[in-house]
Amino acid sequence: MSIFLAAMALMVGCSRHVESMGSVSVIPCPAKVELAQGVFTLAPSTVVALHFEDAGLPAAVALINRVLEPIFGRALAIVGSDEAPMENVINIFRSAEIADEGYTLDITPSAIDIAAADAHGVFYALQTLRQMLPVEALKGRVGSVDIPAAKIEDAPHFQYRGLLLDVGRYFFDVDEVKSMIDIAAMHKMNYFHWHLTEDQGWRIEIKKYPRLTEVGSRRDDSMEIGVHYARGAKLKGEPYGPFFYTQEQIREVVRYAEERFVTIIPEIDLPGHMVAALASYPHLGCVGEGYKVRVSWGISEDVMCVGKESTFEFIEDVLTEVLDLFPSEYIHIGGDECPRVAWTKCPHCQARMKAEGLTSEAQLQTYCNHRVEAFLQKHGRKMIGWDEILEGGVSPTTTVMSWTGVEGGIAAAKAGNPVVMTPRNYFYINRPQSRHLEKEPPFGQPKNKAPRYLTLDSIYKYNPYDRLTADEQRNIKGVEACLWTEQIDTYDYLEYLTLPRLSAVSEVAWSLNHRDWNRYISDLEHLRKLYDYHGYNYATSYWRDNE
Ligand code: ACM
Ligand code: ZN
Repeated sequence: MSIFLAAMALMVGCSRHVESMGSVSVIPCPAKVELAQGVFTLAPSTVVALHFEDAGLPAAVALINRVLEPIFGRALAIVGSDEAPMENVINIFRSAEIADEGYTLDITPSAIDIAAADAHGVFYALQTLRQMLPVEALKGRVGSVDIPAAKIEDAPHFQYRGLLLDVGRYFFDVDEVKSMIDIAAMHKMNYFHWHLTEDQGWRIEIKKYPRLTEVGSRRDDSMEIGVHYARGAKLKGEPYGPFFYTQEQIREVVRYAEERFVTIIPEIDLPGHMVAALASYPHLGCVGEGYKVRVSWGISEDVMCVGKESTFEFIEDVLTEVLDLFPSEYIHIGGDECPRVAWTKCPHCQARMKAEGLTSEAQLQTYCNHRVEAFLQKHGRKMIGWDEILEGGVSPTTTVMSWTGVEGGIAAAKAGNPVVMTPRNYFYINRPQSRHLEKEPPFGQPKNKAPRYLTLDSIYKYNPYDRLTADEQRNIKGVEACLWTEQIDTYDYLEYLTLPRLSAVSEVAWSLNHRDWNRYISDLEHLRKLYDYHGYNYATSYWRDNE
């Protein structure tokens, strides 16, 4: 082979196997991988040397020992720059030239050098390194593990890489939420969108309004439809709840996520999807009485009354506690699926429209959104809402999450709003993984509905930039996978639906311009072993849309 060809053979994407030099199978695929000669032998005697200071660095580096301590039976020593050895060392450097969240990883037989702009990039370098460990080694105690020599340069395509979990329909406890955050971080996802309030349950303790959790976190009946009957988890007629997170638990989860470089975005869905709050405080509704925490799925016409000033007091009080709990710059206010029929009959709402010169109920919802956004901005935060908030006109500063399709996102991007793409036909990973329902758990789908499914490859192929000019593309901040839980009442099933599809989402989010289905499927075989090691539940059939 000529020198030129030999060099070409070394310059490869991930997962190219080069005999005697090992391979690199990492998902999401790094931007650039060059395999080199030899291996670095990682052993209990390997030292981690920190060559800069950053408040987040201890959390980033903690990942190494979470992974290695169970294998080696002891943690690697972590030292400062002065004590860094010449060999058998993982050096961690700062480099101002590296993009946000990006890193370089230079693995040679004598050292592993990591460079990043800050701790966030260091964390991702270590996530990459974790996937480069031979998974067989993870199975038991070993004296050392070899990592193939390689040079990796990497940075995310999108700055927003999200995963939504709905805990309103079914509740998932603190440990389960932490596990989902671990899974997100492993795939280099950086936002966890916590959908905390629903018609069917209010899940966040609000000190000023105790009835939200005393009344709103419990419903009288399990649902009339749902796979849980097929799976025997709940019986119809049994109450569900009370289930909610205390503020102390929320702080714990926020801290846990921060240590994994995941920002939690809380969602308080308003003015629709609020029946649990109306049941707790009936004055918040237009009718003012007779509300019960909803015991069926679907959309309720009982929404908040945005004519009454007391509703805005409530929203601001709740958000004040929410802002205190969640440092996230972004706060999600929902805005989806809000029927406006009650407003047409409500004297308070009609009076508000008249006083404000509003000519449609859609504009009344916009009025509500603007007030909430002004409140958030006053407190230094940014508002996100679902794409229905476009209907009555939206302020240019609002970030739009496009779920009903791609159209909302496209319209918002053209109008100059920041956009996160979450189109249900590509990113609602609560849907079954294939059309072959007989082969997909839970083997019993909801009655009365032709189940929609979402295959791994249709996620993988999706391009959030479709139909946008280069200028408009700049408004696409990223993508988010959603786990709506109407049909998901056990953690095992939640994990099953998440994996491996989150890995496909992660390649859209991180590796958009160098996706390659065959390479990805081959790398997934390796990632699966890591899922096995962690005991994660995942689908083993990788369906393509035409199968
Ligand atoms: C949604 O699925 N209603 C955002
Ligand atoms: Zn009203």
